[in-house]
Amino acid sequence: DPSLPAAVRIGLDEVGDHIKLRKVDDPESKGTRVRVFGRVHRERKQKDVMFVTLRDGYGFMQVVISGQLAKTYDAVTLTRETSMEILGEMREVPAGARAPLNRELHADFFKIPKHWKAPGGDDAITNRVQADAEQAMLLDQRHLTLRGEVASGVMIVRDAVEWAFNQAYKELRFRKVSPPALVQTQVEGGATLFKFDYYGEDAYLTQSSQLYLETCLPSMGHVYCIEKSFRAEKSLTRRHLSEFTHVEAELDFITFDDLLAHIEQIMCRVLELVMEDPVVAEKIKAMNPEFKLPERPFMRMKYSEAIDWLVEHDIPNEEGKPHAFGDDIAEAAERRMTDIINRPIFLTHFPAEIKSFYMYKDPNDLRVTESVDCLMPGVGEIVGGSMRMDDYEELMAAYKREGIDPEAYYWYTDQRKYGSSPHGGYGLGLERFLAWLCKQHTVRDCCLYPRYMHRCKP
Ligand code: 4AD
Repeated sequence: DPSLPAAVRIGLDEVGDHIKLRKVDDPESKGTRVRVFGRVHRERKQKDVMFVTLRDGYGFMQVVISGQLAKTYDAVTLTRETSMEILGEMREVPAGARAPLNRELHADFFKIPKHWKAPGGDDAITNRVQADAEQAMLLDQRHLTLRGEVASGVMIVRDAVEWAFNQAYKELRFRKVSPPALVQTQVEGGATLFKFDYYGEDAYLTQSSQLYLETCLPSMGHVYCIEKSFRAEKSLTRRHLSEFTHVEAELDFITFDDLLAHIEQIMCRVLELVMEDPVVAEKIKAMNPEFKLPERPFMRMKYSEAIDWLVEHDIPNEEGKPHAFGDDIAEAAERRMTDIINRPIFLTHFPAEIKSFYMYKDPNDLRVTESVDCLMPGVGEIVGGSMRMDDYEELMAAYKREGIDPEAYYWYTDQRKYGSSPHGGYGLGLERFLAWLCKQHTVRDCCLYPRYMHRCKP
């Protein structure tokens, strides 16, 4: 029927100037007649009136179904998640009542084709995804839990954050590249490599795109990528995934201080851009009411100072002994320190032995490297970065120390042969950044379908 109004999307077109509301204090006024499609998020019956919260991925709309319409078979048997097409008039919400955007759709017609219906009874969505169900059960139903406000809220913030990274890098004139996921080199240690058969040769899923980014510097300037990284993590923690999204960048002809200043700048710019979108800012505020943009500069703390701090605060190492120089600061201790200090920290200058083979040594103290972890309250480490060894001989010695066969790394080593340069970069775990921003307990809730030990479905 060409006389029917065009379909509007909730929260997008529905708020446009062309849509008028019938005023509560002026019943003669006329609201625009609209047509919407969506799913029943919630429904509630009051005598002869039904209130439906309709959801379409862009927003929520209150729909009022009354009179004969509320008595139809489809209305009486309406279940959550059923898809509907509804036509009606947009009106202001009466005083005292509440609805998204302070407006509601008074239906004069609706349609539910047979296959649009969702089941009720035992198989109703509310039985499939009970809030108090065990984590594992909820994760089996991830395709349905994603329809919830919090789960989808995190995904909507994630979309905004990823766009913001692209925009912030563009502003700084970084170029985006896309390194391979199937590789024959390790970056962050052999223990977490996913190995597979590649036409009869050994190959791995990449742990980090860093080495490839370094090869782009000579001809492309500062570069970045947003790609998946894979780690066969053999422990179940709330911040480790087997597949995560890695925001990585590499900068040429810089100092370590330049690197720190840049990491701070990109993180703050991304947050600023994300908070500029009112829909996204509202979702963040709902999940993380205390969220404020972090103060700059971030606190800088050397690894050796952190060791002293942990000793002074009686926070022991993994063996229950006081921390000593050379200890890896374990997840629990790191988080306790970050939570007590309660602001972003750049932890710098880690000892060479506990860090990756490629890290540049501090010329003033050869025991340590020009390396940095950015720690955030509630989560701990969300960024790891460093300056890179730029000397050929030193890199060869580092391979030897780590028991790495240099042959597979010829292309990486060549960067030190054909015009080396002082350069450095970092990787930021997108799910950890989101866990911090959206105050989520675990990174598992910050990706669409989490992958971790023993979970590879749905
Ligand atoms: O500290 P990592 O291991 O550093 C690197 O991979 C460097 N090669 C990156 C670079 O310099 N280009 O990892 C960097 C970040 C961590 O701070 C963390 O946020 C995230 O990647 N990350 C993980 N996130 C979820 N699950 C895991 N298993 C992760 N491992 C690292």
